[in-house]
Amino acid sequence: MSYHITVTDDDIAIRKILQIILKKEGFSVSICDSGNSLLDHLKDKSSVIDCIILDIKMPGISGLELLGILKTKYPLIPVIMLTAFTDLDTGMKAIRKGAEDYLSKPVRRSELVSRIDDVIKKSKKKYAEKEKQQNKSKQQQFLEDQLNEAHNTIMRTTMATIKAFSETIEQKDPYTKGHCTRVFETALLLGKKINLTESDLTILEGGCLLHDIGKIGIPENILNKPGKLTHSEYSIIKSHPEAGEKILKYIDMFTPYTSIVRNHHERFDGAGYPDGLSGSRIPLLVRIVTLADAFDAMTSDRSYRKSLTLDNALLEIVHNKGKQFDPELVNVFINSKFYEKK
Ligand SMILES: [Fe+2]
Repeated sequence: MSYHITVTDDDIAIRKILQIILKKEGFSVSICDSGNSLLDHLKDKSSVIDCIILDIKMPGISGLELLGILKTKYPLIPVIMLTAFTDLDTGMKAIRKGAEDYLSKPVRRSELVSRIDDVIKKSKKKYAEKEKQQNKSKQQQFLEDQLNEAHNTIMRTTMATIKAFSETIEQKDPYTKGHCTRVFETALLLGKKINLTESDLTILEGGCLLHDIGKIGIPENILNKPGKLTHSEYSIIKSHPEAGEKILKYIDMFTPYTSIVRNHHERFDGAGYPDGLSGSRIPLLVRIVTLADAFDAMTSDRSYRKSLTLDNALLEIVHNKGKQFDPELVNVFINSKFYEKK
């Protein structure tokens, strides 16, 4: 393969000699007599030039100045600087500024050819590695994008499924219409107030929408009974957290929400169900849902009673601070006053 070399020197004799030597060695050669003519030449020919031989001392733009421009605009073309024999410091300076090599005048034919060959090979190798790296990065980015897209699709599907489940239970019990969404609104405000992470807030959303999913198996005449429940009817109602967990446990994507579903009727004092957990043994997200759930239940009409007034609901919550509810969450809830928007 014949490489193309561009020689730039203000000295016509040097240009001619280099051109003759290089052509004899099988290179194709173009010549420029100044920095400006090299820059003009590069505008059209940069893609075919394999190496530039550049004199350091030229009128107008100096070789070192030009080197800076070349390394910015044409970083893939290697540059060999030509220096006077007595000026090796300048040659070293050129290397530090990005030149691939330098040659001292007068240039010997064998050294010229071997240096050019060497510089071009190294440059091609460097370029190939860079291209490989770029392709690898592009491939990695492509895979990451695909993974993110797949993850987003799963999250969208999960959330759509959760909403469908939530809608199913709300349709079964007209008194709880909008209940899950309102529980989430309150839980979200509480969660933000205590600086939960985005990931925890997402779990909170799914957990709120699913928390009563176990009621799907409870007969409607019990669920919507206007009067007082019998002991056995109440036992059936109390089975809904475990029933909910059973429904969800076969689907991996619901795993993050199962503790909210199973434990949202636990009490801070340990007198709740189904596990009798107390205090911090009840996960924080569950404690948040418990408070939000109870608040919405108190402030909504139910088949067996009218809603409490806001004041009475708040009194009830404060009364149950440390009993049914996490006392710190009650403080956050009361101090935040966001319930006033309701
Ligand atoms: Fe419940």
